Amino acid sequence: MDKVRFGIVGTGGMGSGHVNTIQKVEEAQLTAVCDVDESAVKVHAEKLGIQAFTDYKELIDSGLVDAVIVATPHYYHPPIAIYAMKKGKAVLSEKPMAVTVKAGDEMIKTAKKMKVPFTIMYQSRASGVYRAAHQLIEDGRLGEIYRTCLFASGFRSQAYYNSAEWRGTWKGEGGGVLINQAPHDIDIFTWLGGVPSRVIARTGTRRHIMECEDEASAMLEYPNGAIGFMHASTVEAPGTSMIEICGEKGKLTIYNGRLTFNELEMPLQQFNDTTPNMWGSPKSTPVDVPIEQREGGHIAIIRNLARHILYGEPLLMPGEEGINSLELINAVILSGNKGKPVRIPVNRDEYEEFIKEMKKTTKPKSSLMKQRVTDPQHVK
Ligand SMILES: NC(=O)c1ccc[n+]([C@@H]2O[C@H](COP(=O)([O-])OP(=O)(O)OC[C@H]3O[C@@H](n4cnc5c(N)ncnc54)[C@H](O)[C@@H]3O)[C@@H](O)[C@H]2O)c1
Repeated sequence: MDKVRFGIVGTGGMGSGHVNTIQKVEEAQLTAVCDVDESAVKVHAEKLGIQAFTDYKELIDSGLVDAVIVATPHYYHPPIAIYAMKKGKAVLSEKPMAVTVKAGDEMIKTAKKMKVPFTIMYQSRASGVYRAAHQLIEDGRLGEIYRTCLFASGFRSQAYYNSAEWRGTWKGEGGGVLINQAPHDIDIFTWLGGVPSRVIARTGTRRHIMECEDEASAMLEYPNGAIGFMHASTVEAPGTSMIEICGEKGKLTIYNGRLTFNELEMPLQQFNDTTPNMWGSPKSTPVDVPIEQREGGHIAIIRNLARHILYGEPLLMPGEEGINSLELINAVILSGNKGKPVRIPVNRDEYEEFIKEMKKTTKPKSSLMKQRVTDPQHVK
């Protein structure tokens, strides 16, 4: 095998993007596409002369694919991915891996049991900047972390939320900014700073006509006593992407993609305990961190999965790590909606029950708002 045969399930916005991207991956060949909306899939099949399906099980069982990219709305990621895994297929799931941690657990368990490659489209993992930041932490250059901060703000218009029946609804999406727009930043934040053990959040719908949150803020506590803050929104322009990780030996900041790292001459606690100078402060020096120039974006994750299958290249985003951001996302949504602190790992049954209750509140969008129904199941 010198090319991995890929099938894509869900050829709406993102899936169509992957149809085009995959053509540029020498190690991959797109052999089949699937969408419940026949018109969405026909256009690609006719153009590329490949097989089209409207039922994902038929695509997976067709014998045409070795790997499946799942690019449907989030609730469908787990059932489609698990079906594919059980049939021995490698899986690349779009982000977030699932809406609930319980469903995410199932995906991880199945991939392990079936011994199939599993990755998630968190393409920021391929970024040279984030990888350099992660390496600094792995190398112990920051020392023990005592404070973190994440800003993941941007803008989405009402037209965006109106563009599909599922967007911004409990039944169709299972969350707002936290489950859709902020997950890339939250994935990197938990990759660098670790997973908190407790959150206290405030979530709300500030500017949009939608069911789920378009703004969320939370205070975070970590197992070692460190604290953190996070804010995510789709009501801010221009947007800010900022991660700050403070450790005993140094502080790193990634502001809109630019990394700065300051190293302390003496660890913070040691300086505090030993300086005789009442106005003293530890001396810090900016460090020039080399950034690897490498392929980034969606193509890097697709190529990486293909090369993992062909040559055993390590996965840039091992599927099981997808649960870390999902823990934090679920915890913040639950805390914000219930008005109480929430512990991580999130109580699986409590979150399932919460989502079940919230789904009952979903109302069909008005015909004025409804421009494209992505899946009839959402409006039943
Ligand atoms: N990684 C990224 O940068 C990125 C960017 C955008 C979207 N996404 C993710 O991609 C996913 C899809 O988002 P989108 O914006 O493309 O949505 P979309 O509504 O444009 O497309 C979703 C498609 O899935 C199809 N679909 C729904 N249920 C299906 C099923 N059971 N079987 C087959 N097809 C089904 C719909 O008909 C639709 O064509 C989401 O999970 C989203 O978070 C990721």
